Amino acid sequence: MRKHIVAGNWKMNKTFNEADDLVNELMEKLESTELDPNTLVVVCPPFPYLEMTSDYSDDSYFMVGAQNVSDQESGAYTGEVSAAMLESMEIDYCIVGHSERRAYYGETDEIVARKVDQLLKHNLRPIVCCGEVLEEREGNRQFDVVKKQITDGLFHLSADEFSNVVIAYEPVWAIGTGKTATPDQAQEMHAFIRNLIAEKYGDEVAENTSILYGGSCKPGNAKELFANKDVDGGLIGGASLKADDFLAIATA
Ligand code: PGA
Repeated sequence: MRKHIVAGNWKMNKTFNEADDLVNELMEKLESTELDPNTLVVVCPPFPYLEMTSDYSDDSYFMVGAQNVSDQESGAYTGEVSAAMLESMEIDYCIVGHSERRAYYGETDEIVARKVDQLLKHNLRPIVCCGEVLEEREGNRQFDVVKKQITDGLFHLSADEFSNVVIAYEPVWAIGTGKTATPDQAQEMHAFIRNLIAEKYGDEVAENTSILYGGSCKPGNAKELFANKDVDGGLIGGASLKADDFLAIATA
């Protein structure tokens, strides 16, 4: 059975002390929270807080993920962080292809593909984001856009490699805007993505792939979204910065 995953993407938020407080609060509250045994919580803080977060969690409360990784192995790439570095710190997951990185830092599907290769080579699980902007949704081009992102970013992988990938569908018009996709819109796209995977890798791989929804997912709408059969959890931005909200989503 595929995992349900609730991953918190802190983005560029929190000072060290604030991050420390949030991790402690999360651990304390997770201890007394009844999570479904098939639900995995992943916390993705900024790079400088990865070690502190992973030291605390010790994998017993949540897994730790990075928000980005270099597409290169090592060497003269000032400011970059490699998959080998993350592996050596026992980081488990890494977000790739987030729409903010695509829009502000020119992350193309080709770069996404190279980052995914680096992560898999170093035993990290990529959480690969896809999703259309508002203009594409209004022009009914969302399926073409997502198909291209998935095909160009991921379909060079073998079935074995692909089985370590988590996908996050995040309609860009819903990220940080308070506008959420309706449960039907989310289900429709998640089923479309699962079908693409089935066509390429077969039904078993498709059935085992976790496909998360992201974009203004909150305690008030998480249950409805996650009730859909192809929605396997969420990638949570704003609401992951408050322990109570994040845990309310994880228990939904
Ligand atoms: P949001 O962000 O929950 O704040 O909309 C989601 C994301 O960007 O991953």
